[in-house]
Amino acid sequence: MTADARRPRTPASVDIVPLTFVLAQRWVDALCAMDRGTIGERWEATHWLASRAAKWALSQAAVMRHGEVIGAAIASRPNDADVHIHRLVVSPDFRGKGIGEELVRAVARVGELARATRVTLKVSDQNTAARRFYERIGFRAIGRQPTNLLLAASCALLAANSDASLTNT
Ligand SMILES: CC(C)(COP(=O)(O)OP(=O)(O)OC[C@H]1O[C@@H](n2cnc3c(N)ncnc32)[C@H](O)[C@@H]1OP(=O)(O)O)[C@@H](O)C(=O)NCCC(=O)NCCS
Repeated sequence: MTADARRPRTPASVDIVPLTFVLAQRWVDALCAMDRGTIGERWEATHWLASRAAKWALSQAAVMRHGEVIGAAIASRPNDADVHIHRLVVSPDFRGKGIGEELVRAVARVGELARATRVTLKVSDQNTAARRFYERIGFRAIGRQPTNLLLAASCALLAANSDASLTNT
């Protein structure tokens, strides 16, 4: 399936860029705002800015050409094999346009370059829409916790289907 068939057209040009600590600090209010309503634990500024292994080398943001941040994937390196996504969120007005998928694929691409083999994440049992989304792009259950499912997908598989940037005109 081609990228165009896989994804609806975006309303404007969006770039996927590395989310550095400096950018996360600048955008923290917008990140908190777009995350309100996410099922499960609420993320405040301290969560977005918390220090974790390789976090600022792996995390990615979706940015409109005029500079507005509209999505983010926060990831870290818990061990040599895995890149773990702690948070994935797209601004409500921009959901369903392929941006979340491209953020996950961008994390996988950077993880693969750093020789990780899997992308892992947890999804709340209540978040059935997010679970469907992850399964559609290739994640499978590898374990469970009391209220979360642990999912994993191959970095190589996710990265192979990624675009260098998400640009639709
Ligand atoms: C889950 C999320 C990151 C997906 O990002 P996205 O840019 O909308 O994703 P894509 O356009 O690449 O794919 C759309 C998929 O997201 C799912 N989705 C979840 N909430 C959605 C919403 N409000 N609007 C549109 N799609 C939504 C849909 O099920 C859709 O799956 P489908 O293609 O199988 O029908 C985004 O919907 C979001 O930010 N949700 C709230 C935060 C959240 O639940 N994060 C995951 C926590 S584990």
